Amino acid sequence: MIEQKLNITHRTGSYTIFIGENLFGIKEALAQQIAGSHVCVVTNETVKPLYLDACLTALTQFEVEVVVLPDGEQYKNFTYYNQVMNLLCEKHYPRDSTLIALGGGVIGDLTGFAAATYQRGVAYIQVPTTLLSQVDSSIGGKTAINHAVGKNLIGAFYPPQVVLIDVTTLATLSQREYLSGLAELIKAALIADAEFFIWIEQHIDALLKRDVTILKQAIMRACQIKQTIVMRDELETMHNHCRILLNFGHTFGHAIEQVLGYGEWLHGEAVALGMHMATCLSQDLGLLDQTSVQRVYALLERAGYALQLPVGASSANLIQRMRHDKKVYSNCLNLILLQRIGTAVVKSDVPMLALQSVLERYSAH
Ligand code: NAD
Ligand code: GLY
Repeated sequence: MIEQKLNITHRTGSYTIFIGENLFGIKEALAQQIAGSHVCVVTNETVKPLYLDACLTALTQFEVEVVVLPDGEQYKNFTYYNQVMNLLCEKHYPRDSTLIALGGGVIGDLTGFAAATYQRGVAYIQVPTTLLSQVDSSIGGKTAINHAVGKNLIGAFYPPQVVLIDVTTLATLSQREYLSGLAELIKAALIADAEFFIWIEQHIDALLKRDVTILKQAIMRACQIKQTIVMRDELETMHNHCRILLNFGHTFGHAIEQVLGYGEWLHGEAVALGMHMATCLSQDLGLLDQTSVQRVYALLERAGYALQLPVGASSANLIQRMRHDKKVYSNCLNLILLQRIGTAVVKSDVPMLALQSVLERYSAH
């Protein structure tokens, strides 16, 4: 059942985000978006047994190949991008082919980049199956693979043909992955929509139970926020400072992930703590009132995120990591902070000393 639609316009056209339940059962939801006769579904070993058959039932009139990649961020690389390319080339897939990304953000990013580059660009459809990919990575046309030197270093801005968000796929997601995505949903409210934040406060129990009706409303609102942002700043331009706001909590979060070693904490778990750090720093710098900080803390704690650094990630390690961040100039850091719940700002002159003072409060003693 398709219940909600959103339209995103971009440099070269537009696409629709469909949000609903059991979308594979609706042939027109998927099949009507496919122009030619050739389809390549890219998925992974975890998602395949869960959703591939349902996806294929909507594609019976097409010539379909399936690429099943191993599961993990470490496979979002040139080797597995090349596996997709080899199949497309060897099977002589034509320019009017369509790729379908069936999975989380890893599959979405890699498939999108394959689509961007095969024959200088073919259509692709995002079928995101994690909460993070449904509220964030499937929207906005950022595609990428990783390089040994860093994440997402090789990529392109290349919008999908359509995004199909089937909220029922979230039922099979592990609790940790679900909470990791929920952090990005809370982030959307914090940076752009105070009323949505109140709504999340009121519906957090239903969200934690994955109530489908509540989830559809939450995902819709988060997608609207991302829609507004990417339509204002499609290419994340430096002077616009709009899309960059989506990185709220991420400078801290990335430092936590790096210090602990990638994979120890999930991205959203690190972002949740990072958002709390950024909120406290906002108060220290006189931007945000104490009640707001307490509300953010209460919501993140209720959702179950760890809000202290684990042993193994000291504030000193984090500071050292953040000092090397490319956003540091003359002992000051560029950070996204909160002015109010629902309003984020870019601050280009955050003193390292203020940062140090905040981080010390999070060390496990
Ligand atoms: P992921 O794709 O690794 O998925 C998380 C885990 O959930 C994986 O083990 C996956 O196999 C499993 N999974 C997926 N769907 C499932 C389901 N319905 N039921 C059970 N298990 C399921 O991780 P993610 O959090 O979805 O995405 C992270 C990636 O997204 C990173 O590579 C990040 O760089 C990227 N990202 C991209 C953007 C963008 O704008 N393009 C934005 C944010 C993040
Ligand atoms: N970093 C998420 C985005 O810009 O889409």
